[in-house]
Amino acid sequence: MAMTDIATAAIAPDDLTEEEAAAELERLATAIAYHDARYHQEDAPEISDADYDALRQRNGAIEARFPHLVRTDSPSQNVGAAPSAGFAKVRHAVPMLSLANCFSREDVEGFLSTIRNFLSELKRDESAALELVAEPKIDGLSCSLLYRGGKLVRAATRGDGQEGEDVTENVRTIADIPHTLAGDAPEVLEVRGEVYMTRSDFFALNERQTAAGQKPFANPRNAAAGSLRQLDPAITKSRPLRFFGYAWGETSEPLGETQWEARQKLKDFGFTLNEPARLVSTLDDIMAYHDELLDERAGLPFDIDGIVYKVNRRDWQQRLGFVSRAPRWATAHKFPPEQAKTLLEKIDIQVGRTGSLTPVAHLAPINVGGVMVSRATLHNEDEIARKDIRVGDLVTVQRAGDVIPQVVKAEAPPHGTRGEPYQFPQKCPVCGSDTVRPEGEAIRRCTGGLTCEAQAVERLKHFVSRDAFDIEGLGAKQIEAFYNDETLPIRSPADIFTLAARDEANGLMKLANKMGWGKKSAENLFAAIEERRRIGFERLVFGLGIRQIGQATAKLLARHYGTLETLSTAMDAAQDRESEAYAELLSIDQIGAGVADDLLAFFAEEHNRKTLAALEAQLVEIIPLAAPTTTASPVYGKTVVFTGTLETMTRPEAKAQAEALGAKVAGSVSKKTDYVVVGADAGSKAAKAQELGVTVLNEEEWKTLVNGTA
Ligand code: IVH
Repeated sequence: MAMTDIATAAIAPDDLTEEEAAAELERLATAIAYHDARYHQEDAPEISDADYDALRQRNGAIEARFPHLVRTDSPSQNVGAAPSAGFAKVRHAVPMLSLANCFSREDVEGFLSTIRNFLSELKRDESAALELVAEPKIDGLSCSLLYRGGKLVRAATRGDGQEGEDVTENVRTIADIPHTLAGDAPEVLEVRGEVYMTRSDFFALNERQTAAGQKPFANPRNAAAGSLRQLDPAITKSRPLRFFGYAWGETSEPLGETQWEARQKLKDFGFTLNEPARLVSTLDDIMAYHDELLDERAGLPFDIDGIVYKVNRRDWQQRLGFVSRAPRWATAHKFPPEQAKTLLEKIDIQVGRTGSLTPVAHLAPINVGGVMVSRATLHNEDEIARKDIRVGDLVTVQRAGDVIPQVVKAEAPPHGTRGEPYQFPQKCPVCGSDTVRPEGEAIRRCTGGLTCEAQAVERLKHFVSRDAFDIEGLGAKQIEAFYNDETLPIRSPADIFTLAARDEANGLMKLANKMGWGKKSAENLFAAIEERRRIGFERLVFGLGIRQIGQATAKLLARHYGTLETLSTAMDAAQDRESEAYAELLSIDQIGAGVADDLLAFFAEEHNRKTLAALEAQLVEIIPLAAPTTTASPVYGKTVVFTGTLETMTRPEAKAQAEALGAKVAGSVSKKTDYVVVGADAGSKAAKAQELGVTVLNEEEWKTLVNGTA
C-alpha cells in the first residue's frame, strides 16, 4: 500500500464505466482509510496533504457522477480515523467535523453562491450582505476542551469526529490553555481549537530528539500530534505545545449572535486567537485578505496551510448545517504547497505488500518552507519518465505542509550536464524476480509473490496493522526484526501465535534476552498475542492482505458470508465463473469482476489456503460481524421527491434536512418513491405521484412528519 496509492488510477472520473467507478470508489475508500489511520492514529502520514486532498476530490467527483454507488464506508461519510488504543474514548456531544476545501477564486465563489442559494433571504435579495470571518488555518491538530463551572474538566482529540481520545492530563500541561476561565463563562462550555507548535520550537525539539538518538519529526504538525498523544503527560509537558481557540461544541448558553463576537468572548475567557482575522463580505474582500496572508505566510511563526472562512451569523450557521463530513457554513481555502530546489542523489525502489515497486528520491537535504527534506516520492515509472527525472538532476521539491514531499520537476544541475535517462528496474530489487506491468496500470509489480521476501514482510506488517490483528507491541519494526530472526522467526501469520510456545521450548525466555526486549515487554507481547486468538471475522479477512480487499470490502464479505468456512467454500465454488457461487459473489453490492478476480486468485493459491488453515488452527474464535443498527426516524430509508416552490425553505435546505434524517432525496417520481412533497406550482411530478399512488404531502404535512421525529 503506502505511497503507491498516490498513483491514482489514470482514468478521469468522467471516463469511468460504472463498474470501474465502483472498483475505484472501493480503492479510494481503502486508500483514504489507510492514510487517515497513518495521519490520525500514528501521526505518521505517508502522503502529502495535497495528494490526500486529490484522493478525496476524486472520490467526490466519482460519487457525484454515480450517486447510487456511494458506499456506506465512503470517506465522504466520515471524518478522520477512529481513536487508537491506549487512551480512554470520549464521545463528542457535538460531532467534530472537518472542512471542505477551496483551491481557487472560482471555488470560493462557488462556496458563496451555494450559501446564497440555500438561504431564502439571500436568494431573494442579491444585495443582502453575507458576512464572513476569515482567519488563518493552522496546521496542527484539533482539540476539544470541556469547561464546567469555568474549570477545565476534560480534553479530547477529534478522533473520527464522533469519538476521540481523552487527553485531559496532557492538555493540562499546555501553558496556553487556561485551567480556569476568566470572566463570566457559561456553566458548560466546550472550546475547540488547534494544538500546534511554532516552527522554531519544532526545530529545537528535533535537535533534542536527534541528540537523544530518537527519530526527528517530519513537520510541526506531526510533532504536535505526537507530543499531545503521549501516554505519559510528563513527556507532553516537556514539549512546547500551544493552542488557538477558534470554535466551540457543547454550550449551556450561546456565545453571542455572531462568530466574531464568539471570538472576542473566547479571548476574554483567556484563549489566544489565531490572528490576523478579519470580517469580509465580498469576493474581492476575501481575495484581498487571501493575498495579504499569502505574503505574510513565511514570516508567521507557525505553519499555516490556508484560510478558513466562516459565515458570521450564528443563526445562519445553524440553518446551513452540515453536509456529510463538513459544515456548509465554513470552508478552507488552501494555499499552494511550498517548494525548493535540491540535488537528486539516488533513486531507491521499495517493494510493497502486493509486489508494487515504488520509486523514492534520495535528496541532498533541503529546507522546504521551514522543514528539512531528504526523501521524496516519485510515484511510479511513468511519472519519472513524464518529468524526465534523472539521478544527479536539480529537482524542485514540494511540501504541502507535510510529510513525504514530491518531486515536481527536474533540470540539469548548476554547472553540470545531465546523466542518462532513468531506467526503471525490470527485476525486483529484493528477490530478483521478473516484474510485470499489466496494461492500463501505473504500477509495476514483482512476480516473486510468496517467494519475495519484501512482499512477505509487508504482508505480515499488514496482518498485524491496526485495522487487522492490531497486536500491541508487534508493529512494522518488530515484524522486520522477527522475520530475519534466526532463533525465533516469524515468517507467516501462524508463527505469531506459536511464538510464546517456541520461545519456551527453545530454552526459556529467549525473547526476554534479545536486544530491545526485556522480560516485561516479552510478557506483554505474549499477552497481546494471546488476546488476538479471538478476532473479528472482518479483521481476519482484511488482515489477509488480498489485493483490492480493503477494510470496507472485508466488512462486506464478512457480513455476507458470516463465517470463514462459508467464505472458503464459496470461494472454491466460485472459481468456476459459470457457477451460482460466482454470481452470488458479484451480486454483493460494490464487488465487481476485478475485485472478484483478486479474491478468487488468493483462494486458488494452495499456499494461501495452507497459511490460512495454519492460522485458523491457532485461533480460538472468529467473531461474526454484527448487523448494522438502523436509525429510528419516520423518514429513515424513505425516498422523497420535492417539487414546486416551497415557502419556508429553499430546495437545498429541504433536501439537506431530509437527508440528515436518513431519507434519500430523488429527482423524479417512481414506484419506489415514498413521499412527494409539493410546493406551489407543482407540475407533472405531483400528477405522476397521484397516478402511481405515492403519498403526496404539502409543505406543512411534511414538516409535521419530520418534526414529530426530532
Ligand atoms: S473551524 C466545523 N478554524 O482544520 C468547523 N478549523 O480541515 C471546524 N483548523 O478540523 C473547524 N485552523 O483542525 C477551524 N481557524 C480554524 C482552523 C481550523 C485549523 C483545522 C481543524 C479542522 C481542520 C479542517
